[in-house]
Amino acid sequence: MLREVYAAHFPVGAAIQRSQIASATPDRAILAAQFSSITAEYEMKPDIIAPTQGSYDWSRSDALMDWAEANGIAVRGHALLWHQTTPAWFLSGSPADIRAKLQQYVTDVVSRYAGRIHAWDVVNEVASDSGGGTAPYRDSNWYQAVGNGDYIDWAFEAARAADPACKLFINDYNTELPAKRARYLEIIADLLARGVPLDGVGHQFHLQINADPADSLAAIDAVDALGAGLENHATEIDVSVYSDPGECFAGGVNCAASYGSQAANVPASVYAAQAQIYRGLFDGFVQRPSVTSVTVWGLHDGQSWLNSFPVSRNNYPLLFDPDRQPKPAFHAVTDPAYVI
Ligand code: XIL
Repeated sequence: MLREVYAAHFPVGAAIQRSQIASATPDRAILAAQFSSITAEYEMKPDIIAPTQGSYDWSRSDALMDWAEANGIAVRGHALLWHQTTPAWFLSGSPADIRAKLQQYVTDVVSRYAGRIHAWDVVNEVASDSGGGTAPYRDSNWYQAVGNGDYIDWAFEAARAADPACKLFINDYNTELPAKRARYLEIIADLLARGVPLDGVGHQFHLQINADPADSLAAIDAVDALGAGLENHATEIDVSVYSDPGECFAGGVNCAASYGSQAANVPASVYAAQAQIYRGLFDGFVQRPSVTSVTVWGLHDGQSWLNSFPVSRNNYPLLFDPDRQPKPAFHAVTDPAYVI
């Protein structure tokens, strides 16, 4: 079992949706057997919990929390602030107004799950994908509304006050790429220098089939090299069976041709390459004590977000196939004797 193989090192998580655990589904059985952590794929984000100012909908987040707790499964909170899921009401008014609304929201959400959610992604994707302009900060709706990166501090400070024992994370993608990583580390070092309460660094690791695990592990090592004792979490791992150029992600053009809707149409060599990447990652994580949580972004290929991002196209990026059968990647990370 996956969770047992890594029990001495870190919890192994999956991103899930409430529908997967709402009844006695096959997904629920696999989750309970194989995983020791879950992340809400979207049901703990602000547009779900607080679509309108002043009223909360806890139904979905509570359902996930309660099921996990009843089954001895840890919960990673994701995410208190993300530019893509911020309802418009947050960002109206002066910076002082925005600060008050953010503090209220973070306080209410973190307090509700205090002592139950052991780690929160406090801010998600605040680093810029390019230099110049507002770099190292993303030129986001938050940055525009506040006028600088101060909202990051506000979110962390409110979270720490609401649950002092909760581990507080910053989270981002493409940390395996040196230029993005440098901007991310600049933000992190700056937060540390100013005493902002940051406990750890999240690496999404949404990888492609041509990825070299060494690049991802270099991101962990770069955080360790700060010497600040930060933890590292691999927060959203998947390995696309495609290799797409930048313009595919930017504008949906020149994306790799689809393998279609039959999992068997993906060449065995592709599943083998994917398995090598997963094994390389997990082996590297085990070697690094600062890695304290590892999560894959979905349970099985039938429900991956990559089936609709960056374009609508079947993808097969996870450990279980659409029929919930274990793939070579699963065997590669659970059985050292498995020959890829
Ligand atoms: C994605 C979910 O998978 C989708 O279901 C949702 O519609 C949008 O968000 N980076 C993140 C995640 O931090 O929250 C995103 O999850 C994927 C990219």
